[in-house]
Amino acid sequence: MPQMPLPTPGDTSWFSHDRFGLFIHWGLYALPARHEWIKSREQITEQDYDTYFKHFDPDLYDPGVWAREARNAGMKYFVVTTKHHDGFCLFDSKLTDYSASHTPYGKDLIKPMVDAFRAEEMKVGFYHSLIDWHHPEFPIDIFHPMRDRDDVEAINSKRNMNRYVEYLHGQSRELLTQYGKVDIMWFDFSYPNADYRGLPGKGRHDWQSKRLYSMVRDAMPDVVLNDRMNLEEGWDIKTPEQYQPSEWLQVDGKPVLWEACQTFSGSWGYHRDEQTWKSTETLLQMLIDTVSKGGNLLLNVGPTGRGEFDARAIDRLRGMGRWMHHNSRSIYGCSASDYVAPSDCRYTQNGKRLYLHIFAWPFKHIQLDDLAGKVAYAQFLHDASEVRYREFDAAAEVQRSKEGQITLSLPVIKPDVTIPVIELFLK
Ligand code: GLC
Repeated sequence: MPQMPLPTPGDTSWFSHDRFGLFIHWGLYALPARHEWIKSREQITEQDYDTYFKHFDPDLYDPGVWAREARNAGMKYFVVTTKHHDGFCLFDSKLTDYSASHTPYGKDLIKPMVDAFRAEEMKVGFYHSLIDWHHPEFPIDIFHPMRDRDDVEAINSKRNMNRYVEYLHGQSRELLTQYGKVDIMWFDFSYPNADYRGLPGKGRHDWQSKRLYSMVRDAMPDVVLNDRMNLEEGWDIKTPEQYQPSEWLQVDGKPVLWEACQTFSGSWGYHRDEQTWKSTETLLQMLIDTVSKGGNLLLNVGPTGRGEFDARAIDRLRGMGRWMHHNSRSIYGCSASDYVAPSDCRYTQNGKRLYLHIFAWPFKHIQLDDLAGKVAYAQFLHDASEVRYREFDAAAEVQRSKEGQITLSLPVIKPDVTIPVIELFLK
């Protein structure tokens, strides 16, 4: 097996087994329905953005439906935006009225969601934005909707970052003490070097990340903590975003635990008109590729302003669920393998079980390096039908393999599985 990652401060034992989670980006930005950064991108004023606060009423919201869709897709944990960069809180907070309970909807959204996902035996994760474009003490910077105003300096001169930090830390504490066991805390994000028109970026000193880290660990010692507080250490997972790493992520030359976060489409928040939706096959290839490199996949849904997963998201979740129904044994509890997979294939491995995921269906044969004499049996995972193979035979008339290889004999027609998987039982 590849060199294993160093132990982490948090309890990542379940995390490395479960592999597959649901990200949920939900808030006021579901109403404009054109990206969660809409307030910054269109530099929408507080007054105009308040329109969405006044009309936020997800009357069809039923977190039990969400939790069942996620569980049936094969997901084992979820991470929900308790507050995104626009400052709107999905949870009841003693520190602000800028929350769902003060919109026409009138209730806390997080408590029923946590209960529903726990009822489906899923782990609970909170995303919480370090950034806040609504808070009156948050200094205007490169991403703030007010960044290009002529009076930015005057406004910032009246803002006190320490007061905002007390709010940030206070709400983080509320999240870690109001909803029972929190399994993941997912802060987002730091940009210490992003200066703009003399406005500095924000990093660990601005957030007082060391103090925030200590509070988090005191409140929830085992929580899995991501890497976006701009701290050199203390994090449990690296979080590559919207790309597939080429190999197992390393820090200082050592493999680390990592979780790729990805969207179905081009937006984290619900985006009605954005059409770049990945196919179910592509999404499954991303999941398999991630696990083959020792990582987790956190796949995002942006629910609508009515409180539902839209049809496109449900289509992808159910497509992944159909594949996971037969093939999840090649994902849960699996990781990278030392064996090198053939082209257009990925290996995942769990002890003596080696899983060959075939991304492009070949004509009749696949040669597997370094497995001669090591395989006791092989079968398709979806229907447990035997896959026959030949060991390398130097005396054979027709050489289909090289020394050290075995050659799998495959049906000419690809089985009716999005991505066929062959389970190799190693001796
Ligand atoms: C990026 C996006 C942000 C999203 C995050 C998820 O930072 O800008 O909106 O919440 O990715 O990782």
